[in-house]
Amino acid sequence: MENNMKQTMSPIRDLKPSLASLEEDVMSGLKKDQKSLPPKLFYDAEGSRLFNQITELPEYYLTRAEKGILITHQNDIATFIGSSSTLVELGCGNEEKISLILSGLENVSDYIPVDISLSALQETADKIKNDNPLLSVQGIRADYTESLSFLSGISQNKKVISFLGSTLGNFEAEPRELFLNQLAQELRLEDGLLIGIDLKKPKRILEAAYNDSNGITARFNKNVLQRINKELDANFQLNNFSHLACYNEEDQRIEMYLVSERIQTVEICGESFHFQKGERIHTENSYKFSVDEFEKTLHHIGLRLRKVWTDQENHFAVTYVEPLNV
Ligand code: AVJ
Repeated sequence: MENNMKQTMSPIRDLKPSLASLEEDVMSGLKKDQKSLPPKLFYDAEGSRLFNQITELPEYYLTRAEKGILITHQNDIATFIGSSSTLVELGCGNEEKISLILSGLENVSDYIPVDISLSALQETADKIKNDNPLLSVQGIRADYTESLSFLSGISQNKKVISFLGSTLGNFEAEPRELFLNQLAQELRLEDGLLIGIDLKKPKRILEAAYNDSNGITARFNKNVLQRINKELDANFQLNNFSHLACYNEEDQRIEMYLVSERIQTVEICGESFHFQKGERIHTENSYKFSVDEFEKTLHHIGLRLRKVWTDQENHFAVTYVEPLNV
């Protein structure tokens, strides 16, 4: 059938992580005393779809708060970004947040969404291109936790790199500083970072956000096992694992686990992995920040917190960060 409405797909530079790197991440993580899987493995097509559902849950305040900030302070944020800048969005996910940012800007030279999930990236790139036909949109599919080398020489214009959604909270303290430091290396004096961070708040609010009553977060968490079954030769029985998320007050982070409900053995790529009843696979840490601590971290690596926008309840902060002009 002829289709006059057929849309062209935006070009994507695919720096796809190899199957070998997935196997490496899984094997090395599950051989540790505390078994673990890195949170980036959540985001296959199904995981990205489930995460989008999470962002709409009543308990999951993060995305709503952040989008509220992007709406309320649209003009101010646009002023910091400036006109004719290049916008790079690390871990773009869906198009909603960047659409809010773009609608405050008169003139953007290009938009470069980056995500580990090809399906999410393609969809976002296509939607943004469709809504903004004059904007140059060049997606990059990459694991930015491995390397940021794709950023070098990406643009002659002023560039602003956004890293929203408190994805920074997935890093441990040391890799977080390394990552911010690598980002800082890519910045010229006029460039900036737009970083979203989830703020500290009472445990009950945090734990509800990661234990939603619809069980979507549980499905999101377990999907990583399904993904390993699909992409590697593995036989996880999803019903034999349950979702656990709790706030660690001392370390100020939500910790997520998959708990083995019984003694079991799982085969992955010809190797056997044994699980005790109650044994946990750690799947995610999600650190919660105070603006003061965040500012200290930034300062430590030669960055300056120029501006902080928060929602009325002080649940979330969007920050504009620049190189220290010394
Ligand atoms: C994408 C890291 C911001 O920690 O809130 C949501 C991921 N995990 N529910 C978060 C997530 C479980 C999310 N981040």
